[in-house]
Amino acid sequence: MARSGKVTVVGAGFYGSTTAQRLAEMDIFDEVVLTDIIEGKPEGLALDMNQSREIEGFETKVVGATTAPDGAGYEAIAGSDVVVITAGLPRKPGMSRMDLIEVNAKIMRSVAENIAKYAPDAVVINVANPLDEMTALAQKVTGFDRSRIMGQAGMLDTARFTNFVAEKLGVPVGSVKTLTLGSHGETMVPVPSACSVDGKPLTELLSAAEIDDLVDRTRKGGAEIVALLKTGSAYYAPSAAAARMAQAVIQDHGSVLPVCAWVDGEYGISGVYLGVQAEIGREGVRKVVETDLTQDELAALTEAAEAVREKQATVADL
Ligand code: APR
Repeated sequence: MARSGKVTVVGAGFYGSTTAQRLAEMDIFDEVVLTDIIEGKPEGLALDMNQSREIEGFETKVVGATTAPDGAGYEAIAGSDVVVITAGLPRKPGMSRMDLIEVNAKIMRSVAENIAKYAPDAVVINVANPLDEMTALAQKVTGFDRSRIMGQAGMLDTARFTNFVAEKLGVPVGSVKTLTLGSHGETMVPVPSACSVDGKPLTELLSAAEIDDLVDRTRKGGAEIVALLKTGSAYYAPSAAAARMAQAVIQDHGSVLPVCAWVDGEYGISGVYLGVQAEIGREGVRKVVETDLTQDELAALTEAAEAVREKQATVADL
């Protein structure tokens, strides 16, 4: 199998370590680098993952590196084609993603400065919360082209929606197509008009009230897991989504995925990082792809854009 390139995962907590493991098991990169500020943790996890190579049958090498905010240790990420940022605190029960903004902004600032210095050509995928704001901050601090910075949320929210629909109807997830746009938070915009099961519109299979229930559960999908776990937030489905995005980049897929991307005129919205569908390739976001929306869905997306725009404008001062 042809392997190429180097991907770095910053932050070796639950989200970061599962992302690194998934990327390594895909066996498509030459190297996966995992970093953290906790001394020895990324090195230990890397050693453990490398020792699974024979059993899982992959050759990708995993390298662990302890880093410090002043940049020590960051040489390990040099030449990365893709960097996934997972460094940051997760939610505790009862917290909103927005409650993390101050502490995670400080972490993001130091991480992004070092990425700009040590991996200036990388495509960056942010997953730290609050998602849309931290993605905007990563772009501001690195100064990278906006197309080279994106956030992971839409793939996860969409996959959650799909799972709920499949369970409700008792059908395989593979026969369900769903879509969510907007922000990764209160103003998430599930798009029932773009949802189908084996090609049949979802609106013909479930009542409006039933769809509303699934939409509501999707919007609160992360909080439902935080409440059950009590310490930490979701990472299996999130890491699956982040790893697929990194794969789309390194393999120059051109696949259209729901991601947090810079929107510049699409849907009549401009100047904000927002959850939309976008074509992903080697340079990051090739273009934002517009979907037909109902009037209500478009109004909700516009509202989401205004809500995150306000926060994104202030994030640089944190
Ligand atoms: N550089 C590198 N790693 C850092 C830094 C930093 N400056 N600051 C913190 N970290 C590391 C922590 O040491 C920890 O190992 O980030 C890791 C975070 O791991 P977890 O606490 O397990 O959190 P996780 O579930 O992985 O979530 C990470 O993703 O979903 C979001 O809201 C979530 O913002 C959070 C992020």
